[in-house]
Amino acid sequence: MVTEVLEVTMKQNNMFDIHNIRKDFPILHRTVNGKPLVYLDNGATAQKPKVVIDAITNYYTNQNANIHRGVHTLSREITIAYEEARKTIQTHINAQHAHEIIFTRGTTESINLVAHCFGKINVSAGDEIVITQMEHHSNIIPWQQLCEEKQAVLKYIPINEAGELVLEDLQKLITSKTKLIAFTHISNTLGTINPVKDIIKTIRSLSSAAVLIDGAQAVPHLKPNVQDLDCDFYVFSGHKLFGPTGVGILYAKELWLNKFPPYQTGGGTIKTVTLEKTEFADSPLKFEAGTPHIEGGIGLAAAIDYVNRIGLDAIEAYEQQLMHYATEKLLAIEGVRIYGSAKYRTSVISFNVGTIHPFDVGTLLDKYGIAIRSGHHCTQPICQFYGIPGTIRASFAFYNTMEEIDLFIEALKKSIRLLS
Ligand code: ALA
Repeated sequence: MVTEVLEVTMKQNNMFDIHNIRKDFPILHRTVNGKPLVYLDNGATAQKPKVVIDAITNYYTNQNANIHRGVHTLSREITIAYEEARKTIQTHINAQHAHEIIFTRGTTESINLVAHCFGKINVSAGDEIVITQMEHHSNIIPWQQLCEEKQAVLKYIPINEAGELVLEDLQKLITSKTKLIAFTHISNTLGTINPVKDIIKTIRSLSSAAVLIDGAQAVPHLKPNVQDLDCDFYVFSGHKLFGPTGVGILYAKELWLNKFPPYQTGGGTIKTVTLEKTEFADSPLKFEAGTPHIEGGIGLAAAIDYVNRIGLDAIEAYEQQLMHYATEKLLAIEGVRIYGSAKYRTSVISFNVGTIHPFDVGTLLDKYGIAIRSGHHCTQPICQFYGIPGTIRASFAFYNTMEEIDLFIEALKKSIRLLS
């Protein structure tokens, strides 16, 4: 009933038709263990619409050639297509210049690139870097390594019980020695949407530190506007945004890219090479050594065009409905504890049931065709904060339905009965 009312309302509001959307995703029609697949592990990776699969197939069927290297037709055509893909990403996140968009292997490589290059030119012994207690390991370890190497100090913005950043003490944490502050836009474990714009405004009023935003979990749900946010760096992966794996983005303000040394060197990064020395190309080529993930860039642009056709506002509104519906159903089950109750949250729900181990629940749910993630979600400091080994995490995308949530809840109840 709730489902029908919601779907009618959304159609009336001209938002989107969930049944048609589901037709765009071939994998959603397969079965798992004899049951229809219910894919609720979108925080780990999202499924791909046919337009993305077709863009990749078309690349290998009709367009395959190397880019930036040939005068022949295929090479020229695909070079144009790849650079168009860069422009699609630039427009999507409202970067000022296309050369501020660097293709990487993913969020992790983007952060490593910044830690390496920023560290080389801007971090010395005694300097400080600030991150938060809710970061993914990928936004902790590169900074730990850098601080160890440079004898710099790593500081943390803490979280509270609701899974929100405790921002009252920012004035104490940020000092004249703070060189960079890195934090996530949306927590992959708690679903918390951080007030990025306000935090950056506060940082700008306190210091000249650079700001990096980990947008890996944000881009499937919202459209970041990097000029409006006024961040120095914004990073994300293609595969969580319904695009291919193995491709990601580093947005960096031009001023940093002009100052940064290359991250990796090799073919494609240069203006001239003699046996004595190399003069490097400008950004983005300076940061894209070797033959890139060409179909990754093309596929990511196809994914961005696809979500924009649906509209991220409509996507976010629908996902909020999914989250509230699932939260209500989960909380009605005895023993369920949800971690993260921030005021602004996205469609990620982490929970445990009594003392049942998350892996046991995940294994049983799989028997019912339900894919969720169980474990620490690469955020061990969050688990340490709550004193738990991990959680069961259901993360929703705009192609999930209320009926799927009902199936998930029923399977969860059966699993709990078996495990109690
Ligand atoms: N970072 C991904 C997740 O949260 C893999 O599951």
